[in-house]
Amino acid sequence: MTRTVNIGLVGAGTVGGGVLKALRRNGALMASRLGVRLHIAQVAVRSPKKKRDFKVAKGVLTTNWKSVINDPKIDLVVELIGGTTIAKDVVLTALKAGKSVVTANKALLAFHGEKLFAAAEKSGANLYYEASVAGGVPIIKVIREALVGNRVTHLYGILNGTCNFILTKMKEGLDFSAAVKLAQQQGYAESDPSLDVDGHDAAHKVGILASLAHGFWVKPKEIYTEGISHITPLDLEFAGSLGYAIKLLGIVKKSKKGPLQVSMYPALIPRDHVLANVSDVYNGVLVRGDVVGDTLYYGQGAGRDATAGAVLSDIGDAVLDLKHGSTDRLKAFTPHESNGEVRPIGETTACYYMRLSVLDRPGVLAKVSAILAKNKIGISSVMQPEGHEGGSVPLILMLHYAKNAAMAKALKAIVKLSSVKTKPVLIRVENFG
Ligand code: NDP
Ligand code: HSE
Repeated sequence: MTRTVNIGLVGAGTVGGGVLKALRRNGALMASRLGVRLHIAQVAVRSPKKKRDFKVAKGVLTTNWKSVINDPKIDLVVELIGGTTIAKDVVLTALKAGKSVVTANKALLAFHGEKLFAAAEKSGANLYYEASVAGGVPIIKVIREALVGNRVTHLYGILNGTCNFILTKMKEGLDFSAAVKLAQQQGYAESDPSLDVDGHDAAHKVGILASLAHGFWVKPKEIYTEGISHITPLDLEFAGSLGYAIKLLGIVKKSKKGPLQVSMYPALIPRDHVLANVSDVYNGVLVRGDVVGDTLYYGQGAGRDATAGAVLSDIGDAVLDLKHGSTDRLKAFTPHESNGEVRPIGETTACYYMRLSVLDRPGVLAKVSAILAKNKIGISSVMQPEGHEGGSVPLILMLHYAKNAAMAKALKAIVKLSSVKTKPVLIRVENFG
């Protein structure tokens, strides 16, 4: 007789609702592929009277997540409420009770992953988190399984659908706040969208990928993070005329010796690079393995259906593990390099785009160049577009490789020049070398 796995869903908003609808559509197909029937036994939400676009059987909806976990019928818990407080209790309680958990919650994993994975290990349950990074792109499976025989030397990722959507819409002429609103309406943004635009959501994701690939737990505070709110249409335009696109880019780079670079910041990337063409809500991840070389993964990084697809993938893995009694076939996280370290941003190097707003008079460029030279930073090109008004003009400098610490020092001195009128815009350039 075909076994049934009873699922308890905690959270049925954008993603949870998508999971219910997708299971209704493809549940029978999944059952025939997995040899296990999937049954949604309980669904916990906050407001039971809210109008919803999915149906559940009578008695399935509850507001008490504890009753979901304590229900002896329930074999698998799916956490889709978000946040790091109640969600942490949900996941920990389930794991401690020996029930495996599927989650899409990257903030929870970034801050409490170590503790959660330890709890899973202790109770013999498992934690599945494909939907936590890059929406519908199966990047966790790729790093954990497909690239198991590789050392990941470089990973570059566009990992926040909302930011990529906003940058794309700004390039098309929409202003920043209208683009944020649109991303919220589409269900892409976090409930607090500053998590997206300030780069934190993407930093949580790059931290999860770095931890998985390098086998030690990278903490959010170790990840240098910048968001996109200082990027203006002017920068998108100037970058374009220099042959670049601007993307919020996560970087994990391993040099031959020493600590790992793990960062999340906007970067100019060559317009003909494949990641420059990842637009709208799409995410793209380039992973370079020492055996396989460059590999690329692409798909929708946020939104109801894409994320539901990733949750279904985890549900599939979880039910197969339950069916075969093998919850540790693929451990959620293996600390295979527990002495790993993250390189402080000041010690990493980059090329830079610097946009200054300066008084239109002779000698300004000479003063800026002198400061850069004093800090051993070379200029590769200078652009001063004409036709700007208001007494000051933009001055764009493309700068050679320099340590971030040297650049920060130079910037401090440049800001003090009386001919520099507003806070400079500094964006790193990534050439994928
Ligand atoms: P929503 O805000 O749309 O949904 C949250 C759900 O959790 C709602 O159904 C809400 O109930 C329920 N909920 C909140 N608190 C409780 C509680 N105390 N007890 C029971 N239920 C509760 O969030 P999303 O679906 O967008 O996000 C869920 C998770 O997925 C987050 O971790 C998010 O980061 C992650 N994620 C989201 C993606 C996206 O594109 N949206 C993509 C990838 C990951 P009610 O409906 O009654 O308000
Ligand atoms: N807010 C997130 C994003 C959801 O836009 O990428 C997907 O993790």
